[in-house]
Amino acid sequence: MEENSFISKTANPISHRSCWEAPSNIALVKYWGKVDPQLPKNPSLSFTLSTSLTKTEIEFQPATSKKFDFMFFFEGESKPEFKPKLEQFFDRIASYIPWLSDYELKIKSENSFPHSSGIASSASAMAAISLNLMDLERHLFPDMTTSYFYKKASFLARLGSGSAARSVAGPVTIWGKNKSQKQSSDLYALPFEAALNPVFKSYQDCILLVDKGVKTVTSSQGHDLMHKHPFAEQRFLQADRNLSALITVMKTGDLDAFIQIVELEALTLHAMMMTSNPYFILMKPNTLAIIEKLWAFRASDRIPVCFTLDAGANVHVLYPEEYKGKVNDFIKEELASFCQNRHYLLDQVGEGAKKV
Ligand code: PMV
Repeated sequence: MEENSFISKTANPISHRSCWEAPSNIALVKYWGKVDPQLPKNPSLSFTLSTSLTKTEIEFQPATSKKFDFMFFFEGESKPEFKPKLEQFFDRIASYIPWLSDYELKIKSENSFPHSSGIASSASAMAAISLNLMDLERHLFPDMTTSYFYKKASFLARLGSGSAARSVAGPVTIWGKNKSQKQSSDLYALPFEAALNPVFKSYQDCILLVDKGVKTVTSSQGHDLMHKHPFAEQRFLQADRNLSALITVMKTGDLDAFIQIVELEALTLHAMMMTSNPYFILMKPNTLAIIEKLWAFRASDRIPVCFTLDAGANVHVLYPEEYKGKVNDFIKEELASFCQNRHYLLDQVGEGAKKV
């Protein structure tokens, strides 16, 4: 679909209320590097999570002042510090939803995961807002197809935070034009097109909270540094190759190949950070300690468990459901001590956003 097809018509304002839950996601092939307006330099693929999510309710009222405005509450409190990021988002999407200029919004949002856990919530947050916007748009234009509804929700979410495009559908989504998935697009994410091997439908993700603090370098700054990165072009080509290989793995269920691609992607993401100018490191000593322990456990117990990393120090431990008992024991006994306050979150692959 072309960008123009996401421009809606105008309509008379009505009162409306909706509430959506959107999940967090963890990329297996990483998006790192973009061009305006939030278009990825390479395709990415992610697991949609199940219990780590943002729930957002929006009350839409015709604007009394005849101009767009919004209030934002996070976990019951007004949060003016979140307003600039949301204002930027509404500016970016304004031309695609011209009807919005006639409304005042009351946005109430909460996360299922603890506040300041070091987990980026922008993906689930932007997806949840976008789904609520689409909820009203579908009300205004009832002929809308379900496929268009989800594509445009992902399209809008992308303009808020790139990875948010992948927080609409599940259990596996792909964002970014690539040869292996015919319908793929840089404008929005789509669910994995082929038959997914059953092992991945219930894959486990334990998020080890190594560092709950604010990151020293934001993902926007990190993406920007890819513009002059000496290895950028090779990295984008590598991501293309890794995506094709991973798409095959998602069908066959070859877990050795899965582990090899997923860990390579995680370490490459951090290698890009460490070789940017200026360079930076988001891993902590405990991140590496966990990786060492995990590798030793995999070798000794022959369990197909692996890790991936986000743009931060936390470690996502990934494993098939059939090994849940053994891996969860290992995490509790051997890895929890490397987490801040022994804190970790047990999650698994999920089905995507839901209307509440
Ligand atoms: O969506 P952003 O701009 O926060 O970037 C996310 C980048 C990574 O999380 C590191 C990778 C990814 O594909 O999610």
